[in-house]
Amino acid sequence: MGGRGGGGGGHHGGGAGGFFQEDEILGKAYDATLTRRLVGYLAPYKLWVALAIVLLLVQSLAQIVPPIIAKEIVDQAVIPAVSGALARDDAFARLAVLGIVYLVVLAIGAAIRYGQTILTTWVGQKAMYDLRLELFRHLQFLPLGFFDRNPVGRLMTRITNDIDALTDMVTRGVVSIFGDIAMVVLISGAMLILDWRLALVTFISLPILIALTAYFRGIMRESFRAIRIRLARVNAFLNETLSGMAIVQLFTREKPVFDAFDTLNRDLLAANQGQVRAMSVFQPTVNFTRNATAALLFVVGANWVMDAQLSLGTLVAFWQLLQNFFQPILDLSEKYNIMQAAMASSERVFRLLDTHSTILDPQRPVELPHVRGEITFDNVSFAYNEGEWVLRDVNFKITAGESVAIVGATGAGKTSIISLISRFYDVQKGRILLDGVDIRDMRQADVRRHVGVVLQDPFIFAGTISSNIRLNEASISDEQVRAAAQFVNADKFIERLPQGYETVVTERGSTLSVGQKQLLAFARAIAFNPEILLVLDEATSSVDTETEHLIQDALAKLMVGRTSIIIAHRLSTIQNVDRIIVLHKGRVVEMGTHRDLLQQRGTYHRLYELQYRAHEAESPMKSA
Ligand SMILES: Nc1ncnc2c1ncn2[C@@H]1O[C@H](COP(=O)(O)OP(=O)(O)OP(=O)(O)O)[C@@H](O)[C@H]1O
Ligand SMILES: [Mg+2]
Repeated sequence: MGGRGGGGGGHHGGGAGGFFQEDEILGKAYDATLTRRLVGYLAPYKLWVALAIVLLLVQSLAQIVPPIIAKEIVDQAVIPAVSGALARDDAFARLAVLGIVYLVVLAIGAAIRYGQTILTTWVGQKAMYDLRLELFRHLQFLPLGFFDRNPVGRLMTRITNDIDALTDMVTRGVVSIFGDIAMVVLISGAMLILDWRLALVTFISLPILIALTAYFRGIMRESFRAIRIRLARVNAFLNETLSGMAIVQLFTREKPVFDAFDTLNRDLLAANQGQVRAMSVFQPTVNFTRNATAALLFVVGANWVMDAQLSLGTLVAFWQLLQNFFQPILDLSEKYNIMQAAMASSERVFRLLDTHSTILDPQRPVELPHVRGEITFDNVSFAYNEGEWVLRDVNFKITAGESVAIVGATGAGKTSIISLISRFYDVQKGRILLDGVDIRDMRQADVRRHVGVVLQDPFIFAGTISSNIRLNEASISDEQVRAAAQFVNADKFIERLPQGYETVVTERGSTLSVGQKQLLAFARAIAFNPEILLVLDEATSSVDTETEHLIQDALAKLMVGRTSIIIAHRLSTIQNVDRIIVLHKGRVVEMGTHRDLLQQRGTYHRLYELQYRAHEAESPMKSA
């Protein structure tokens, strides 16, 4: 079920194996280099970040105040009133004041929390919005070879899920960890100031907590890794089977495919349950430690209160502070997950950003003021993967205005020649010249503007027919769109569509036939008005006789006054061109007119007999 559509198919090493590898990266929960680089994205929002940090500190401070007010209530109002040292009414007046202060502090705390949440979320999402843009721009300039090696699903994950994980980290992870540390430090300080002996009693729990978290961190790391790996497998599997649904149904593979999915899904369930088990042990254990510490605090503290070494209010304050002291540790498992996910994601995102294009524009590009359209392959050898030569010592020269067909068996390297002329890849040996200038000395955009290309598998975007011809180029008017369609005979079928040029086509043009897509691709090429050169990869699939005529007629018109290179699959096409280049296993083996080559009785003759004669014999049946 592997492979991509279009192209020559065949071997793509790595493939599914590579897909898992990257998603299985599991870095540390904290990596200084990655974090520094991530923080770089916050730089444009420095002031806002600073404000958020200030709010965070104030908020942590606001958490300490209520326990201290509670202490004052007990020590300044309740106890004196009970012991008779203070009149009942005075005690009430104090209570009322302290109560109001308590409420005000809580209200301020809530307001600050609100502002701080809004601020961090906004900054985090804005920074990640920037990163998403950067990533997309970067992807747009990567060479096609990169896309051969990286499945679409994986790249999509980078821009969506991985960035989500980073947003999570910026808005929830980092900020709250920062706040937690501030809170633990502040609470420890408050405890030490209130009563250092009781504070030391509380700190007895620390070694236990540290040991506990270290232990669970190990378990969670493992279960986290297991979940990521299995989720990646489920994703890869879904990606593949959903895109290949036609094949699955055609060959009634539903049952085995379902079973395979079930296995993967069950693995994922097991991994998730493993994590739930680890997490559900962690929280009660920490909670128990908290309560045990509270009990110890009470026993020791109450003793000191009875010995008049400690005020009751201080004990009450300690009890509340203790709750806050343990809270960050209770949430630790969740934050750990956020950080772990974010570090793994940022590593992948940065790795992608660090993948640089190998196909670069020259420092001083040559500009051709006027293109004649002469194409020369000068001793060109080319391999997609090192050592596996796809083209070997290819030499030919196509003069301006000439029309040439390239023929050859499947896998001979025809489409590769087109990819090279468009500079999707760079050749390893030799040169490709446009009007005598090496295309590597020109800007890629210039080369591509001069060359009109129709690919073997025309890609249709979701949108209308006219948007597919115009491709968002505002300078192409509606009239030009129509004229282009008319020129290539695409107008007839377009006008028969329910909304004509405004008919919405779905992604990949699944509502159009192969022939219609090809005509649309012609119209697109012509609308962009390639000055001189036309390169065309005929769709291999056969079309009905009527469409075939339309295509032939369009082709004949397109070729007039332009240098044309056509990868021919149709007999009618080859007979109309000036010259035929015969490619065999990446080498040019014959060159000449249809008649000459037939007389030579060589490769072309054999190919013609096998392929085109058969096609010819087949045609009447198809039209019947
Ligand atoms: N992107 C790619 N990465 C690696 N190898 C590739 C790639 N595209 C094509 N190939 C290999 O290069 C060789 C030539 O492929 P090419 O697509 O040029 O053939 P073709 O002559 O156009 O065939 P067809 O008539 O089937 O379209 C084949 O062996 C193919 O497996
Ligand atoms: Mg091809």
